[in-house]
Formats: sequence, C-alpha cells, structure tokens
Amino acid sequence: MEQKNISFSYLEYDSMDELSPSDRELLEHAKNAVDSAYAPYSQYKVGAAVRMGNGKIITGNNQENMAFPSGLCAERVALFAAASTNPGIAVKAIAITAKSLQFPVEKPVPPCGSCRQAIIEYEMLSHEKIRIILMGETGKVLTIEGMDALLPLAFKEEGLKK
Ligand code: THU
Repeated sequence: MEQKNISFSYLEYDSMDELSPSDRELLEHAKNAVDSAYAPYSQYKVGAAVRMGNGKIITGNNQENMAFPSGLCAERVALFAAASTNPGIAVKAIAITAKSLQFPVEKPVPPCGSCRQAIIEYEMLSHEKIRIILMGETGKVLTIEGMDALLPLAFKEEGLKK
C-alpha cells in the first residue's frame, strides 16, 4: 500500500484589472451574460463565457425550470452552445461569474460537479487543457490551468468511444 497525494496550484488576482487582456475580455463577456440568466427560483444568476480556438467567444447563463432538475447551469449552456456551433474547434478557456438578487457574491464562483465533468469532456476531445477563470460579483479572481485540478481522478473512460 502506498499513499498518493494530489495537489494543484492556481493564480489569485486581487482584481480583474490584473488579468491578461484576453482573460479580462472573457470575464467581461461572462459578466455581461449574467443579467440575461433565467433564475426566478434561485434568484442566483450565473454567467459563463467560452473562448474557442477560432477566436470566437460564446456566452451562456443559467436557465431554470419550474421542474427544478430540468434547468441547466450557465457553464453547460455556454459549452454546449459553443460546441454545437463550432464542431471540431477546441475550447481554450471558460470564465464563470455570478450575481445573487439576495446577497452579495464576493468570492469566486467555482463550477458544480456536473459542469466540471462536462468541461473535462471537451479537454479530452481536443487533448488540450481548458483555462478556468473564476470571479464573484466583486473580489478576487482565480485562474486554474485545466480541469484535472478541480476534478481529480475524474471519470475518463475513453474506451466507451470505441
Ligand atoms: N448554477 C450554475 O449555473 N452553475 C454552477 O456551476 C452552479 C449553479 C446555477 C444553477 C441554478 O440555476 C442556480 O445556479 C442555483 O444553484
């Protein structure tokens, strides 16, 4: 028996002004997408923006449903829109942010488990890591290189494709 350890590092910025122009642009798109979220049940609006290998930026936001599980997170709305309109093009980065109508969101907003799994699928498809940029309404910004950091030992069964 052997103990194994997994660790990861990420960058923490005091504000979005410190980001590279391209990451800041993507985060601005995510922030712009927040207000169009359809979140009448949670009052929690999430925005996501995906940068594709062809330079396109595609945004999404959470879409809720009165049958709660029928709704979808912002990240998957953006990713599925991006992949369905740009087949064969790699996803380079995703920026995620949120705003609540009930309380201030002052910390970075990390993706839920299902969205982490969905992001990994697109990393496997392109064999490229996806950079993840996280921010709340205000406060610090985190950037993470690749979803392995946020979903270690993920389900990756490539044999299912054959
Ligand atoms: N939500 C997202 O859009 N992304 C996440 O990663 C976590 C949660 C949405 C789902 C729901 O509409 C609302 O936030 C509250 O959970």
